[in-house]
Amino acid sequence: MPYDAQLNFVFWCPTKIVFGENTALDIAIEVESLKCKKALIVTDRDLIKNTDIPEKIKKALGSLCVGIFSDVEPDSGIHIVNQGAKFGKELGADCLVSVGGGSAIDTGKGIAILMREGGRLQDYAGFQILTGPQTPHIVIPTTAGTGSEVTYIAVIKDHHEGRKLLFGDYNILPNVAILDPRMTEGLPPKLTAATGMDAMCHAIEALHSLQREPMADGLALHAIRLIKEFLPKAVENGKDMVARGQMLIAANMAGSAFSNAQVGVVHALAHSVGARFKVHHGLANSILLPACLRYNADVCGEVYLDVLSALGADTEGIQPDKAGDVVADKIIEFTMKLGLPQRLRDVGVSEEGLKECSELALSDGAIVYNPKFISESTEILQIYQQAW
Ligand SMILES: [Fe+2]
Repeated sequence: MPYDAQLNFVFWCPTKIVFGENTALDIAIEVESLKCKKALIVTDRDLIKNTDIPEKIKKALGSLCVGIFSDVEPDSGIHIVNQGAKFGKELGADCLVSVGGGSAIDTGKGIAILMREGGRLQDYAGFQILTGPQTPHIVIPTTAGTGSEVTYIAVIKDHHEGRKLLFGDYNILPNVAILDPRMTEGLPPKLTAATGMDAMCHAIEALHSLQREPMADGLALHAIRLIKEFLPKAVENGKDMVARGQMLIAANMAGSAFSNAQVGVVHALAHSVGARFKVHHGLANSILLPACLRYNADVCGEVYLDVLSALGADTEGIQPDKAGDVVADKIIEFTMKLGLPQRLRDVGVSEEGLKECSELALSDGAIVYNPKFISESTEILQIYQQAW
């Protein structure tokens, strides 16, 4: 697929990646390699209530662990970050170990900022505001989807103002990501499927982004191959450590791809139904992806032919302008086999609410990277209606 003659880009992923079954239990080595001695574990309430994962990490850290902060909720907010940073400072923590899904990891990024910079978290919202490295941060994902362990973005809710704050800064990229398939084996099939489709959307959106670039493209295309092969296996048998491991790698590659290339219309629309109707992020992406592919089809033919190849399809004879439709059909076939819902109406979205979501989506930051310029909320409404 062709690149502009004026191609220029920055690719940034300094995070050390450690992969392998039970590697999370070697966490002490990573803490010591960062020259730290007092680690604070950041995790969510569900994980501490329903699994022994945080306790295992605590045990593996031994005397290097000064405490566990386990108050993270889904869509974590500023007040949680404030509590975590206060707790960390009281304990004299010199590094953070985030254990969980996107919310725990983003909370860890917020705590890392406050423990180093002090003040109000709100004041650091925006892009490239931080002036130097933050509190050392090791991340152990327990889902395979967000890729947050290698993204320079954190999303933290401001419950007081009723909005989500975006923190985009190279200084909040975690120092180490430990991808241990054992950490995801307890994830139920539906969540495995939905989070896996989030990773699929990251990969496809990095490829069709206006800011796409060759380094990210390579990661994204391989992520698609892995998701196509291993997501069904991980959904079918959560104990399949090969499938779990390959999905962690795929989510990580897709995360690194979109952290550099950005995402587009699929995420803009998913963020809005997520905010308005609390639809799970991965599920919203999965449902919206086919309609968005059809929308972009006339400007992304070559890219979508590459996506088709990565999905294992024979592309011979497919005209580029038809590739979007063919990919959309393939995605529907794939998500149906995963047992995921297909329509927005199936996940609690009302038809009357679509207009409001369209207006919200038009001002979402991701929309500017979509390859097809969208200037009217009515265009978005048509995509929503197709997916409804
Ligand atoms: Fe996402």
